[in-house]
Parts: sequence; structure tokens; C-alpha cells
Amino acid sequence: MNETSQAVPATRGQGVAINLLDKIGLIDGHWQQRVVAEMNDYQFKVVKIEGDFMWHAHADTDETFIVLEGELRIDFRDGFVLLRAGEMAVVPKGVEHKPCAAAEVKMLLVEPRGVVNTGGQKNDRTAPNEIWI
Ligand code: NI
Repeated sequence: MNETSQAVPATRGQGVAINLLDKIGLIDGHWQQRVVAEMNDYQFKVVKIEGDFMWHAHADTDETFIVLEGELRIDFRDGFVLLRAGEMAVVPKGVEHKPCAAAEVKMLLVEPRGVVNTGGQKNDRTAPNEIWI
């Protein structure tokens, strides 16, 4: 365990340079999102993933994926989008989606504080929120 997660820092990650890949390097497992900074009510979360997630939707908010390393496929019920490093996509509010990573993907999520990764469901894929790194 090399992770040093902590409660919300007083600075909320502001006013400093944040190296996203360095932060991801501190995370032990896949699908464990960690907050690195806040902008107003929005959070920047880093995560590394591998394999398929589950279908879900976020009833109250859009969700932004920015890929830093690897190739992310986001499935929709009527198609998919493929994102490579340096590419991003915004999933609209209420749209069902399923992130898939055939090999490890490192990415940055941008979404309002408090968004649950599994959307309207809580299950064994639901990751704790509000863990800073
Ligand atoms: Ni989502």
C-alpha cells in the first residue's frame, strides 16, 4: 500500500501544479477514483481502469472523460466512442454508458462533487467518493 489518500485538503488542490500520471501512480487498484482538485462545485478525479465497467447513467449531470494513457471505449446503447490519449468526450446527462478498457487506461474525470460512479445504482462496483490523493 503506497497510497496516501487524505481528507479534503484546505487548498482543494488549487494553486499548485498537479501531475496527473504521478497521482495515478499512487493508486493501488483499478476503478479507485481519487480527487485531485476542485473548481467551484466540480471535481477532477484520476483513475486507472482495466476491463469492462457496468451499464449506468447519471440522472443529474453530464460526465467528462479525458484519457491520459491507453485506449478507452465508451459504449452507448446505440454505438460507442473510442478515446485515445489526449482525447476526451462528454457523456450527456441521463445517457446510459459503459466504459471499457481492453488494456489499462489512465484517465481524468470531471464532474460535479458527489457523483456516484455507478450512477443511480449502488453495488459492488460503487467506489467511495471524496477520497483525495
Ligand atoms: Ni458514468
